[in-house]
Amino acid sequence: MAQLPNNEQVLRALSRVQEPDLKRDLVTLKMIENLTVDASGISFTVMLTTPACPLKDKIEADCRAELAADFGDMPVVISMSARTLGQKTGRDLLPGVKNVVLVASGKGGVGKSTVAANLAVALARTGASVGLMDADIYGPSMPMMFGLQGQRPAMEGDKIVPIKKHGVHVLSIGLLIDEKQAVVWRGPMASNALRQFFTDVIWGELDYLLIDLPPGTGDIHLTLAQLLEVAGAVVVTTPQQVALADARKGAAMFNMTSINIPLLGVIENMSWFTPIPHPEERYFIFGKGGGRALAEEFGVPLLGQIPLVQGIAEAADQGQPVVLHEGNPSAVYYADLAGQVARAIAIRNVG
Ligand SMILES: Nc1ncnc2c1ncn2[C@@H]1O[C@H](COP(=O)(O)OP(=O)(O)OP(=O)(O)O)[C@@H](O)[C@H]1O
Ligand SMILES: [Mg+2]
Repeated sequence: MAQLPNNEQVLRALSRVQEPDLKRDLVTLKMIENLTVDASGISFTVMLTTPACPLKDKIEADCRAELAADFGDMPVVISMSARTLGQKTGRDLLPGVKNVVLVASGKGGVGKSTVAANLAVALARTGASVGLMDADIYGPSMPMMFGLQGQRPAMEGDKIVPIKKHGVHVLSIGLLIDEKQAVVWRGPMASNALRQFFTDVIWGELDYLLIDLPPGTGDIHLTLAQLLEVAGAVVVTTPQQVALADARKGAAMFNMTSINIPLLGVIENMSWFTPIPHPEERYFIFGKGGGRALAEEFGVPLLGQIPLVQGIAEAADQGQPVVLHEGNPSAVYYADLAGQVARAIAIRNVG
């Protein structure tokens, strides 16, 4: 039998494998762990920067190809694992949360909350630990979307514990106050209520905390920018021109010096209509290309396009985000979106 390679030789082969997004090799990025070489073969773990990495399969295949080039048919066992990167100094109100992501829109009703709920569930399904905070204190929608109406979160001492549903830790003002009680928040009260969502809540250790913002540009956005180190914001728009004009304002707000939150990308919702019995058909009822144009204007990626499909609204009303419905055409778009959002954050975190 040929002589066994040593660890250095294996690492030399693996240093020819690039992380396609981060544009550096796996060894330089310190992504190879637990390397062992013995008579049974080569075994190691590739530690990805997010469990939602869309390039997982390609990276594994590239590792196998480089090892085969140097060591022939020696058996190779690769475990793909992840330790989500974060870039915070840990000096904000949520030191245990690695990445805070704002889900924003300029205009109301474009599907921001639907996107936030499904994105959160899709990220959690990759194995990431995910929280979802409903910062829409004027019109909270998460209790309904997650089927949590009438439930109250548990307390630990004087702190609130978010409710875990569909793998996501959810908190909303709608879980704390009577739904019929009118919520009339004035500016300072709103900021205070929001602050308590961080100071009085046990969010624990999370890879991603998504924050569903109220529509438009306002106090809430500014307050969040002051309280938290935010990894970035995603802006949701529909393809229509009117929605785009507002989305542009929403996106521009994050570039303001007082806010200065990186824009991770654009998500286009209701991009086309697809009838469930004909998943290959696309009807562009609201126009076409708006999300891409906005992304290009701001120099950020178009992270995803979600079709208008039957079942999204019904699923939301029944507390079952549609991404959980295997046969629904939108489920695959949300899974893809989760990968793209995680990817945009990882690229930014590696710098
Ligand atoms: N892709 C889609 N296909 C079908 N229906 C959708 C889709 N996205 C959202 N909806 C429906 O559109 C309506 C508005 O969505 P949603 O509440 O998520 O919007 P929003 O932007 O959060 O609104 P608001 O500005 O009031 O917070 C809901 O009834 C939702 O179920
Ligand atoms: Mg909403």
